[in-house]
Parts: sequence; C-alpha cells; structure tokens
Amino acid sequence: MSFVTLPKAAPFSEEEIETLNRVVGTATPVQRAWLAGFLAGVESVQGTGAVAQPEQAQALVAAEPLTILFATESGNSEKLAGDAAKAARKLGFKPNVVDFADLELSSLPKAKNLIVIAATWGEGEPPSRATRAYNELMSDAAPKLDGVKFGVLALGDSAYADFCGVGKKLDERIAALGAKRIADRVDCDLDFEKPAAEWIDKSLKALAPAEGARGTVIPVDFAARQQAAPNVGPVEAEVQEWIDLNSSRSEKETVHLELAFDGPAPAYKPGDSLEIFPENDPAYVDQLLKAAGLSSDDALRTEFLKSRDVTTLSLKTVENYAAATQHQYVKKLLESGEAKKWIEGRQLIDLVEEFPIMLSAEQLKGLTRPLAPRAYSIASSRKEVGDEVHLLISTVRYNSHGRDRLGVASGFVGERLKKGDRVRVKVKPNKHFALPASNDTDIIMVGPGTGVAPFRSFVQERRAAGAKGRNWLFFGDRSFTHDFLYQLEWQDALKDGSLARMDVAFSRDTPEKVYVQNKLWERRKDVVEWLENGAHFYVCGDAKAMAKDVRSTLERAYADVKGVSPEIAAQALSKLEREHRYQQDVY
Ligand SMILES: Cc1cc2nc3c(=O)[nH]c(=O)nc-3n(C[C@H](O)[C@H](O)[C@H](O)COP(=O)(O)OP(=O)(O)OC[C@H]3O[C@@H](n4cnc5c(N)ncnc54)[C@H](O)[C@@H]3O)c2cc1C
Ligand SMILES: Cc1cc2nc3c(=O)[nH]c(=O)nc-3n(C[C@H](O)[C@H](O)[C@H](O)COP(=O)(O)O)c2cc1C
Repeated sequence: MSFVTLPKAAPFSEEEIETLNRVVGTATPVQRAWLAGFLAGVESVQGTGAVAQPEQAQALVAAEPLTILFATESGNSEKLAGDAAKAARKLGFKPNVVDFADLELSSLPKAKNLIVIAATWGEGEPPSRATRAYNELMSDAAPKLDGVKFGVLALGDSAYADFCGVGKKLDERIAALGAKRIADRVDCDLDFEKPAAEWIDKSLKALAPAEGARGTVIPVDFAARQQAAPNVGPVEAEVQEWIDLNSSRSEKETVHLELAFDGPAPAYKPGDSLEIFPENDPAYVDQLLKAAGLSSDDALRTEFLKSRDVTTLSLKTVENYAAATQHQYVKKLLESGEAKKWIEGRQLIDLVEEFPIMLSAEQLKGLTRPLAPRAYSIASSRKEVGDEVHLLISTVRYNSHGRDRLGVASGFVGERLKKGDRVRVKVKPNKHFALPASNDTDIIMVGPGTGVAPFRSFVQERRAAGAKGRNWLFFGDRSFTHDFLYQLEWQDALKDGSLARMDVAFSRDTPEKVYVQNKLWERRKDVVEWLENGAHFYVCGDAKAMAKDVRSTLERAYADVKGVSPEIAAQALSKLEREHRYQQDVY
C-alpha cells in the first residue's frame, strides 16, 4: 500500500496535519478516492465552489502563517481561538493555535501574525496554566518581537475591579517588545460572543495578506465536524432531588441537586461543569424597581427576573448612573476617586437607594448587563447515574453594609428551587480537568467544600469502569459532625475499594485550624511516592487561598522528601503541569 503524507505547508495546524496523516495517510486508494469525491461533493453542494484544482494546490503553499495564542481557565478563550482559526483559514491563513500553557517563548518572534485571546482570573491574574509563559513574557528575558503584527482580545467580567487586566497587560507588553498593533484591543464582558466575533473578523481582515498575494484555502472544517457533539443547549431539566447535605446545626447550606431530562442527559464527562441559568430574587427585583420609581411595570419585572444582571455594581455602572441622571452626589463620588472603594460589597440596589432619582425603564435597563449563567462542577458519572446530572451547590449568604445578601444562582437553588421544578442548564466541557487516559493510573484528589463535587464523579466513573488505578481523596470542611459532605458514600467507597485512601481536615473541630494542605504535608512521603509512580494530581474548589496553598505545599513537600532546592521542586511541579498531571478547576 502507498502512504500519503500531507506537506508541512498544508493549511492546517501541526496537530491537524498529524491527525490527517494518521487517517488519510494509511487509507487505501479506494478510501482516498471516496474521500476526495465526498469533499468535492460537499463543497459543490454548499456553494463555496472551493474544489481543489492542481493550480490551487500551488497557492496553498503560499498560505499566510498566523499564530493564535490563548490563555484560558474555563475554556472560553480556547473556544474563541478555535473560531478564529476557522475564520482565518477561509481568509487564506495557515493558523497555528497555541495554548499559553505550551508556549515556548523563543518561538514568538517567528510569528509573523499574532492574535492573542486572554482571560483574566483570580484578582487580575492570568489563568493558572498560563502563569509560567505569562511571567516569562513579562520578564526582562522576553525576546524582542520586532516584525510581528498583533492584536489582543481580552476576556473578563466587569464585576471584578481589575477588568480584563491580563489582556490589557499583554497588549501593552507585546507592543513594548516591538510588535506592531494592527487591531485595537477589545475588552469583553461575560456576554462576549458578539463583540469577540466582531473583533476576530475585523482583526483577521486587518492582518490578511492583500488580495492576489493570498493563498486559496479550501474551507473543509474538520475541527467543526469533530466538535459537532449533541451538546447543544441550554436545555430544560427537572429537579428530581434537593437535599441539604449539612446538618441543621451547620452555619452552611450545601445542596445536593439531582437533575433529570425529558430525553437523554446532554453528553458530559467527569470534570465537566453544568451551567445553570438562574432567576433573580423577586424580593430584590421589587425593591430595585420601587427604588427607581418603576414598581408597577410587569413586563420590566419579568425581564429583570429572568434576563438582566440586577445585582452587579461596577465602576462603569456608577459612571453610567451619573451620566444618565446627572446626580450631583454620584458625580462627586466619582470625582473624589472614592467610588472604587464605595462599590466594594455593594450592589446596584445600594446605588439606587442611596442616591435616589426617578429612572425610566430604559435608563434602569441601561445600568444592567445580561444575566450570566453560573457553572457548577458535575458531581456524577453517567456510568453510575444514567441520564441524570448531580450537582453540589453552596448557598452564598453574607451581610454587607447592613444588608443581607444572597448569591443570585446559589440563592435561586438554595431558597426557591424545589423538587419537580424545571431549570435551564447547559454543559460546559472542560478538557483540561479530566481523568487520566489509563484506568491503571493512580489519582490524588484535593477537594475541600464544594471542591469535592467533581471527585464524586471521578470515583463513580472509575468504580463503574473497574479501574485498577488507586484513588486518594483529601477532603476538608468546617466540622466533621455538621459538614462532612457525602460522608456515607465515601465510607462505602473506602469499603468497596473505589477509594484507596481518604484524608480529612475539619478546620473548626480543634483549637488549631487544620486544612487539606496540612494533611497533604503530613502525608508528603506517600504523596511524592504516588507522583513518582505516575499519579495524576487534581485540585478543585476555592481559588483565592486553598489552591495556592495546596500548590505551594506540594512544592515544599517535594523539596523536603527528595532533598532538593525549592527551585528544583518548582521545576518538577511545572513539569507535572506540562504533562497534564497537575490539573485544577478552581473558582
Ligand atoms: C468552573 C466552575 C465550577 C464551579 N463549581 C461549583 C460547585 O461545584 N459548587 C458551587 O457551589 N460553586 C461552584 N462554582 C461557583 C459558582 O459558579 C458561583 O460562582 C457561585 O455559586 C456564586 O454564584 P451566585 O450567583 O450564587 O453568587 P453571585 O450573585 O454571583 O455573588 C457572588 C459574589 O458575591 C460577592 N460576595 C460573596 N461573598 C461575599 C462576602 N462574604 N462579602 C462580600 N461580598 C461577597 C462577591 O463579589 C462574589 O463574586 C464554580 C465556578 C466555576 C467557574
Ligand atoms: C474565580 C474567577 C475570577 C475571575 N477574576 C477576574 C478578574 O479579576 N478580572 C476579570 O476581568 N475577569 C475575571 N473573571 C472572569 C473571567 O475572565 C471570564 O469568565 C472569562 O470569560 C473566562 O475565560 P476563560 O474561559 O477563557 O478562562 C474571573 C472569573 C472567575 C470564575
């Protein structure tokens, strides 16, 4: 049999060429002829007219290179990078999509055209997997980027003080290194789809080679066909079970939710999340409408309940309020520079109540953005629960500036959702938080609080698959008696062997607070031995303190057990990360 190999200059990324070579390269002549005929047929039916001709094959070689670099935590930037690559191919580019996590900085000066799509996380930080390359790019050792043409698309959430901070810093830095900005940065809020698509279109056109100099690319979109999973949404689900897992004497409420669907559950795998499309608290909406002098408007009430973000208060909202109302005191608050501090812990209701003025429905709507869904780690495996999805949701309740506050989505679930109710949901896949390919590989899971949710899914999946790899769970919460989430299930799992080990840390049971990272340190010898034996390490839950502490504890543990310097230990952890053996899903 003769083998066919696609040339390196083919208008695909290296990864795609490899995939194609694997499939087409070993195909029989009959299979190749069928494929050629099939693709030609598809193109003529779809009317692009882009059927390969020998002279076009020449032009393909001249396709313009384009590097699309993305920094993501929850997948939005990665999805947009894929969209950009698809659009770029149609414009005669040969796109190469690169994850910041895999970026070798020395390759960047060779990128003739560069698009960067970057999200901001933490409090203005890069996504965790992007941190290494991001820090290198910001350091004095970063290479010059003269001759590179670039544009940055920033993703963020205007509820955060450092809105799109990482995109802003990357935009400045890449220009400072000598690259030429060909498209102004756009900072996208949570409803990023439309502005992002417009920015991608505009930037690609600005980077595109002149007509005539352009290679003709045949737009067969293999990636899109692969992605065409049945995973569309949102879909409606019915609440089958609603159980508060904390005891009645706990200060917390953590709801175990079981959802069922009219047909099969949307496709998901352990590690994915489910987005819930919540409804706002009717009492809050009524108060807001009253404060704005709009209390009798039913249509507006329904719209505010179902589809507007009526709680977030950003600096931009205060500026818009001042512009719309010309309120003297709000203007003064902005001019004094105190507004940034004033909005901390406050919501839109505080602004409208403290600086009251009659607003029109349009003015009030103009102060809000679309209501965004919230993600929850899926806590079940289809192999064990069939067509259901289980979630674990902690109700957010706090008091600030004298007012009791309730999280929009967790409050919707905790306070108002009941058995038999219906709710709109959508699966959010996460390929960067997934079980090892081999069932023989050991896993270590660190998941305090609701961070334990995906690990219930991991353990269910591996039990159903009869996995030989061992599962070790570190769990923590406040109190053994009141907050031990899924206690009986873990005890059963320890009995049937689907959990090989479990270590627990209850912070309020002893005078000295004990956290999962303390347990990790105590068990450091075994943890390092498991890792050296090929184990994968997973962290889920709180991003602000826990995830950082766990990472630094693991680094110290490695240095201590192996007797190496902190620098060598840090390198070992980076290596684990690059091998996708250290994965985290934190929020
Ligand atoms: C990938 C992913 C997976 C997740 N998985 C889970 C999960 O399995 N279980 C789970 O419970 N959550 C999970 N979350 C978090 C979840 O998505 C929501 O962020 C959380 O439920 C809060 O949403 P909410 O609408 O109830 O609160 P919101 O209305 O969004 O309010 C939250 C905001 O309130 C403010 N706030 C909160 N507490 C205080 C305080 N004490 N003082 C002052 N201000 C405060 C903060 O500004 C905070 O951002 C996950 C998040 C992500 C990104
Ligand atoms: C825990 C957490 C922290 C975040 N911190 C910020 C922030 O400091 N600034 C900002 O603009 N956006 C912030 N965001 C919003 C994300 O940038 C936004 O959701 C983005 O679409 C995520 O893109 P990704 O899926 O590519 O990671 C944060 C989101 C979460 C869940």
